[in-house]
Amino acid sequence: MRIGVLTSGGDCPGLNAVIRSVVHRAVVDHGDEVIGFHDGWKGLLECDYRKLDLEAVGGILARGGTILGSSRVQPAHLVDGVERARGHVADLGLDAIIPIGGEGTLKAANLLSEAGLPIVGVPKTIDNDIASTDVTFGFDTAVTVATEALDRLKTTAESHQRVLVVEVMGRHTGWIALHSGMAAGAHAVVVPERPFDIDELTARVGERFEAGKRFAIVVVAEGAKPREGSMDFKTAGTDIYGHERFTGIANQLSVELERRLGKEARPVILGHVQRGGTPTAYDRVLATRFGWHAVEAAHRGEFGMLTALRGTDITMVPLAQAVESLKTVPADRYAEAECVI
Ligand code: F6P
Repeated sequence: MRIGVLTSGGDCPGLNAVIRSVVHRAVVDHGDEVIGFHDGWKGLLECDYRKLDLEAVGGILARGGTILGSSRVQPAHLVDGVERARGHVADLGLDAIIPIGGEGTLKAANLLSEAGLPIVGVPKTIDNDIASTDVTFGFDTAVTVATEALDRLKTTAESHQRVLVVEVMGRHTGWIALHSGMAAGAHAVVVPERPFDIDELTARVGERFEAGKRFAIVVVAEGAKPREGSMDFKTAGTDIYGHERFTGIANQLSVELERRLGKEARPVILGHVQRGGTPTAYDRVLATRFGWHAVEAAHRGEFGMLTALRGTDITMVPLAQAVESLKTVPADRYAEAECVI
């Protein structure tokens, strides 16, 4: 069998572990040939690739990022993208393509699958918002990094009697905010699923100071927004792909909390540090299992499917189902973290 693998969309700790696992399972156990496309779908569309053998994936298990490179170019962005991809798959004699990606990548994968290409998807995102899998690799690493940062920020906040508004990633969902906030014992967690009321948030933080505490930590997901009419709020437009830009919610929120509470408030934006560096052991294991099962699915001819974690088992789910909706933070999980509603 000849398998093509690519990594597309925002990078994520664990991508290299999937690539390594695909190569080990395919080349060593099945005698397959594996090629890796450079920079995501762009590599497939431009026929830019390299052979992946055991030597090529040596020592990458613990490495962050992706040895193949990534980009946000999707086949659908190019008018003749699907036909071009089909032509290159035929020319290269590929029997299977394994794209590793998040929401946008999986939508493109589904598009190509519906056009008849042999696709087996692998979900990835630090945001953990792919509905068909219990967990995506990268999430555990991002939460670990954010939690460590929050622990560190507590001591400086306390020294200065400040409110620190810490922005974590999560464009559409608040999983990283929820988990890191719970793990670090943040005093308020604000997620995109629930537009916040600035009066309620101010009261909550204010009560802490009234009770004699010297500082407060508010964790806010980058996609969080105030309830309509709750406070002045500026959006930041869209990027070159039409994605909504970060609003700088931590900046806006810290200015507002400082004004209302009469306490020094500072924004801290953790940003891409949450995506960089070595994956945790949990993410390495999940990524390795996904890679192994993607190769097996390709050998069974199970195309148009995605690897997924359900409980402790890896299972295959239809790509079409996986791209229907995002996994958002449910109300009961939010209540457990005693968030600001
Ligand atoms: O999808 C993962 C993610 O990390 C989001 O949380 C974040 O909004 C986005 O990627 C940032 O992407 P970029 O690297 O393009 O700025």
